[in-house]
Amino acid sequence: MPGLIGIGVGPGDVELLTVKAVKAIHNADIIMCPASKEDRPSIALSIIESIIDKSKNQEIIKLIFPMTKDKDILEASWKRNAKIMAETVLKGKNVVYITIGDPYLYSTWIYMHRDLKEKYPDMDISVVPGIVSIFSFASKVGISVAEGAEKVAIIPSCYDLSSVKEIAKYSESMIFLKDGRYFDQVIEVLKEAGFPDNSLFAIGQDLGTDNEIIRTMTLGEVNDDTLTTKYFSILVVKRV
Ligand SMILES: C[S@@+](CC[C@H](N)C(=O)[O-])C[C@H]1O[C@@H](n2cnc3c(N)ncnc32)[C@H](O)[C@@H]1O
Repeated sequence: MPGLIGIGVGPGDVELLTVKAVKAIHNADIIMCPASKEDRPSIALSIIESIIDKSKNQEIIKLIFPMTKDKDILEASWKRNAKIMAETVLKGKNVVYITIGDPYLYSTWIYMHRDLKEKYPDMDISVVPGIVSIFSFASKVGISVAEGAEKVAIIPSCYDLSSVKEIAKYSESMIFLKDGRYFDQVIEVLKEAGFPDNSLFAIGQDLGTDNEIIRTMTLGEVNDDTLTTKYFSILVVKRV
């Protein structure tokens, strides 16, 4: 039966794929995956590569999403790629679109799914959740994301940080995603918001890959050398 499934492939370790995700990938005629340029690898594809059954000759199609904050360019890429997916399903194909972590956390899937639901209300579209990078990181470091009455904020660190101080005043845990190159900007803000120097400060970079880096310290111990320099980074700061 032709249809489209958006699949979360987790944070990097192929063993963290759900059974449902593996079955859907094996049953697909076509696997579509995001990449920033035609000649750049797809991280989502690299996560599942070892479970692709080569004997099935499944077609793999890279969908290009330029790395930009230009809204017009982004919207054009979501619409173009949603159209490619829809036209393939309408040809009778069973398509899966794979995305890192979970499809509903800062993923291009969100915009394409919205566009497809509007333009093709009868299309069979479903979603398989994936393990979110935040929880993979929590397991590796051994920290709770939230306990008891604690409140947690998730902040995309490469956007406007003007509201972060107010949010931090009322949160026990702050989780920063999207581009570790901006993490240095939040340190003073957190201190001003009342995060004490002994707060846990944990950074994860390239989790689940051979280049994985994990550093834990206190907020008071942070310096330029302990920060991260890569887009694929997570920062958790937690009052203790
Ligand atoms: C566009 S968001 C996608 C989030 C993803 N949908 C999820 O559920 O984790 C990309 C950001 O997620 C975080 N991230 C996802 N996977 C990661 C990994 N393996 N290692 C470190 N950070 C990761 C980083 O903050 C990265 O900049």
